[in-house]
Amino acid sequence: MKIIDLRSDTVTRPTPAMRDAMMRAELGDDVFGDDPTVNALQERIATMLGKEAALYVPTGTQSNLIATMTHCQRGEEYIVGQYAHTYRWEAGGAAVLGSVQPQPIEHQPDGTLAIADIEAAIKPDDSHFARSRLLCLENTFAGKALPMAYMADATGIARKRGLAIHLDGARLFNAATKLGVNAKDIAQHFDSVSVCFSKGLGAPVGSALVGSRDFIRQAHRYRKMLGGGMRQAGVLAGAALYALDHHIERLLEDHALAQRLADGLQGISGLTVEPPQTNMVFVDVEGERAKSLLPHLKTRGVLATGLYRLRFVTHLDVDGADITRAIAAVREHFSA
Ligand SMILES: Cc1ncc(COP(=O)(O)O)c(C=O)c1O
Repeated sequence: MKIIDLRSDTVTRPTPAMRDAMMRAELGDDVFGDDPTVNALQERIATMLGKEAALYVPTGTQSNLIATMTHCQRGEEYIVGQYAHTYRWEAGGAAVLGSVQPQPIEHQPDGTLAIADIEAAIKPDDSHFARSRLLCLENTFAGKALPMAYMADATGIARKRGLAIHLDGARLFNAATKLGVNAKDIAQHFDSVSVCFSKGLGAPVGSALVGSRDFIRQAHRYRKMLGGGMRQAGVLAGAALYALDHHIERLLEDHALAQRLADGLQGISGLTVEPPQTNMVFVDVEGERAKSLLPHLKTRGVLATGLYRLRFVTHLDVDGADITRAIAAVREHFSA
């Protein structure tokens, strides 16, 4: 029985063609800056996002941490969503390793941070306060694409108040696909953007941090400090380059499968399905059956995450037949 793993889009295995690209990648020592495949990837992603330079790093977490440490000095703070990855899901790295204080604020139902809340969180220049230095947004956030007009407004205000702006764009290409824009159109609002190759794009490892040449030059030192200087990293960067060539346009398929899953789960008593925007389907489950749903799904070879709010994520390694099976497995649980 094929295991249908809908826990995350990080679970994909490299395709045979991606493995070929990895095998064929020209290699060098990237700490010396002479891995041609890493260099090609960095140039490519910087150009795609309309920035001067990029740095290939092992993970999205490290990319975000490097960005925060590059933008903020010790004793400064970043304004961030209460449920943003850069606040809640990165083990407090900015505070622990960067001495940078997070200032979390609530999300609105559409995933945005209210502009009034951002403004209210910016501290006056007073010796009692940490210095507000950075606004950090995330797009997509919980599978939702932040609207273009919102990004322009929020970053415009932050810039006017002297803040730098970072985007955790782990799923930037899902956001661009949903919004029907170029990734560059989103990136233009931000000083730095972190983008992951290891999520919807299907590469096994790796993220990139992009920004100005000077920003990336400083980021380079933090990458080394945090242990992210890899050597013949082109074997991994080759997968990312392949993904940029072959796995962006197909994100539409993941979004369509998420919609199909959401449609198939509609109307089950006790389930509330949030209409998906990209590749994530969130489902609220009422009552006793909530606890036993995930174990039941597992017996049917379907994996998801969450307890009361379940999450199903579509990706490169699932197809229409898998979604049909997942829907049937959920329905079976509620009809028993
Ligand atoms: C929105 C977001 N940002 C950053 C990350 C961190 O990526 P990594 O797992 O490569 O550290 C994740 C991981 O799932 C994520 O979902």
